[in-house]
Amino acid sequence: SRRATHRFTDVLIIGGGLAGLRAANAVEPNLSVLVVTKDKLRESNSNYAQGGIAGVVDPDDCFEDHVRDTLVAGANLCDRDVVQRVVQEGPHRIEELIRWGTQFDKKEGELALGREGGHSRERIVHAMGDATGREIMRAVIERSREAPNIDIWENAFTVDLLTSEGQCRGAIIVGKNEKPTMVWAKETILCTGGAGQIFRESTNPPVATGDGTSLAYRAGVQLRDMEFIQFHPTVLYIAGSSRSLITEAVRGEGAHLLDSHGERFMLRYDDRGELAPRDIVSQSIVSQMNETAHPCVYLDLSHLDAQRVRERFPGIAETCSKFGLDITADRIPVRPGAHYMIGGVTVDSQGRTSLPGLWAAGEATSSGLHGANRLASNSLLEGLVYGAHAGEAASRSAAEGPHKMLAYRIQHASHQQTESFDIADVRVSLKSLMGRLVGVQRDGEGLAAANEQIRTLAAYVMRHQFENVEGWEMQNLLLTAYAMTNAALARTESRGVHFRSDFPEADNENWRCHQTQQIDVDGG
Ligand code: SIN
Repeated sequence: SRRATHRFTDVLIIGGGLAGLRAANAVEPNLSVLVVTKDKLRESNSNYAQGGIAGVVDPDDCFEDHVRDTLVAGANLCDRDVVQRVVQEGPHRIEELIRWGTQFDKKEGELALGREGGHSRERIVHAMGDATGREIMRAVIERSREAPNIDIWENAFTVDLLTSEGQCRGAIIVGKNEKPTMVWAKETILCTGGAGQIFRESTNPPVATGDGTSLAYRAGVQLRDMEFIQFHPTVLYIAGSSRSLITEAVRGEGAHLLDSHGERFMLRYDDRGELAPRDIVSQSIVSQMNETAHPCVYLDLSHLDAQRVRERFPGIAETCSKFGLDITADRIPVRPGAHYMIGGVTVDSQGRTSLPGLWAAGEATSSGLHGANRLASNSLLEGLVYGAHAGEAASRSAAEGPHKMLAYRIQHASHQQTESFDIADVRVSLKSLMGRLVGVQRDGEGLAAANEQIRTLAAYVMRHQFENVEGWEMQNLLLTAYAMTNAALARTESRGVHFRSDFPEADNENWRCHQTQQIDVDGG
């Protein structure tokens, strides 16, 4: 049998994307912080962010407009106080990143600002053209590695939270080829990001498997608004090019969307054309794909200045050129793909969850900022703001409380696997069923069928005693997918990114509200 080892830290942070590292940097330097990430620190959705960070930095812009754009995109489900607070903190958080060494793109000495869907003006700070996330994470990772009180543990998978007496006490972590470690923490912050891997087409890297939502759900923590999955309208659609996002900033620069007949169709669906909020653009694209019986639509940049296009979007130009496409001349085949999990663990303004001792920040949460449809480039901003607040609040609590270790020994299952099955195959089945039945357009019949199939898969996957990351991830994917389909089935209306073809209108009388779900762990 494998006896667990023990480790103590003041603050444990699960996840090393932007929210997690911002939280780590908010903890007082006399307290110890352990950041665990299941892959390399670089592998996070934050790192792949292209568009940038939305913030009021132009003197002609104002907080009211950024607030209004966010509320309009959010389809009556944003929490206004949260939106106001996050928007007002935006410029400060961007300055902070600059102080920490982030090199944002400039124009005539000032920050260069891009435009994206749903924004009434240029408001997006970006770096290295379309590699914003990479540049921000470079600076934040460097700063975190230099901080003497922050310890970073890579390739360490969090199997479950440790809870006792209604409190979170840390987590069970398994490093590569190591026995389980009980990490005892005074305070724990969940920053595990999203779950795009539940879907066949997604912009997310392979690590986005809904681990945080599942850990929390299993521990009885409240989740909220899980039905709201944002699909990015334009994911490169070429066999072999999985998850190549084509940033919305391309449309911000004036790119057109054409159907297979070469018709520019967006203006038929919305006056804002290609720059309508992305729920509208994704739904219009799917409708147009159905109408033309064609598996994709096309982005066309051929009317824009070629040199400017290459300078502004070097990453996309390079990716497309690998497939023989010149983005300044050729049409780029695209279709919507799962992009951002709007729902997640319910948090208050400090990042506090429903479980004492557990905080959360970033994509893993539902803070009230995004409503029913996230405005482009508001999520790095949310990760910074909530990461900072959750880190500060957890730091204050950790400074007060003593460690409370439980007499706890992991009873590891025997190594023989009585049943064996192909996890990769289950993963593929789940992804394709979610893409088919829980995608941009849903209906009750399809959602019920999806829910039924998830239960069937779960019936044997959940029973299985896994000892590897693939198995644990599979359990997390299924549990998060289950929470999503349940929520989507219950919400009998259309709002923001949640479009039900059997209930195509918003039902403000019954559904202008959040939807929560929680497992009763005490009630058995
Ligand atoms: C993009 O670059 O289009 C993505 C921006 C975002 O999702 O906020």
